[in-house]
Amino acid sequence: MSVDKSSIERAILEMAKDADLLASVKASPERAPELLGIDAEWAETILSGNRDRLRAIGLNDGVTILVSRWFNDDLGDAASTGGFIVDDSIPVPTPDLPRNLVFAGGCSHVPDLLARPEIDPPEAVERLLAGYEKLARDIAAADPDVILVSADCHFQSFNTGHFVLGVGDEHVGSMEFFKRPDLDLQLTGHREFATELARVVRAHGLEVEEAQKVELDHGLIVPLRLLLPRPDLPVIPIITQPARSFSPFNAREFGVAMRDAIENSGLKVAVLATGGLSHWLDPGHFGGVDVEFDTYLLKLLATGRGLDMCSLEPYPLLAHGQYEIMNWMIMLGITGPGVFGDVYSYEPMEASGGGWTVVNMDLDAAAAKAAAANSAAGVSS
Ligand SMILES: [Fe+2]
Repeated sequence: MSVDKSSIERAILEMAKDADLLASVKASPERAPELLGIDAEWAETILSGNRDRLRAIGLNDGVTILVSRWFNDDLGDAASTGGFIVDDSIPVPTPDLPRNLVFAGGCSHVPDLLARPEIDPPEAVERLLAGYEKLARDIAAADPDVILVSADCHFQSFNTGHFVLGVGDEHVGSMEFFKRPDLDLQLTGHREFATELARVVRAHGLEVEEAQKVELDHGLIVPLRLLLPRPDLPVIPIITQPARSFSPFNAREFGVAMRDAIENSGLKVAVLATGGLSHWLDPGHFGGVDVEFDTYLLKLLATGRGLDMCSLEPYPLLAHGQYEIMNWMIMLGITGPGVFGDVYSYEPMEASGGGWTVVNMDLDAAAAKAAAANSAAGVSS
């Protein structure tokens, strides 16, 4: 059984609109489930003003702050811990993978890993590279026909603030900005499928920029030099622009919007998220690593709750250095709920400036779980 998040949100908003209802709930807390139309467990969560648990099911902070004001009489919200928790008691939804999706995963794209690895501790670099090697084997074994790769905008210049799909026939670039023009890459594109993806995204009600040219930088060069199983495998770049628009909601929906097109493509599709985790570029903050928050995100991924991070608001994400996390949310929108991530590496590296990771999403286990759920439903009906 999964949690009906919308009914819990509705219950809170009903109390916001109806002072009599709120007064009745306060006067007779034992009747809260009945008055609010939710189960006892979640009524208790609300009555105790437990904002962290409400956030864990994806309610935004503007809604959860109401409950601490009402039930803790805490106008300043001073009693809330503000902790980001992964609550194992909340059931994980049944997976719903798009057919044809043969690989999903994510990794960092830190330029120094290739440009000057000697600035970080050698054993940490070795562990991180071992993660990439493992992920490279997964992608090769999946034998995709095309790979969608998300990164954020670093040095490119686009016309809008939207997410970008690279529709060109080829993509080229090098790491000249890191004084390593020798670290270059030339990729084949997939115009037809990329154009179809842009069409379905628009049909979903979202904006997208179709770019004929996506000049490659470390965002794609670092991961793909390490992971691309064959040089002619077509790549479709998906570029987010966090400096122009930062919307976890849109990032998830961008991925969701592409699911049908992936299913209908007749292609074996892989999706690779790149970037993050915690990472600051602003002056005075470079070199910080938020291990605690990175660990929270990795635990969400590892327990099949990755999509929950898309319910977090921009402020807390950015405050914890997650400038590149939308790249991962697009991948999670594509995989859908309940897919468990296998964290191959996580290394906080201050010299190169972030918490770097490599994660494979276990599609086989998710498919098996979905099939078991379907056959159980078939048996009982
Ligand atoms: Fe980056």
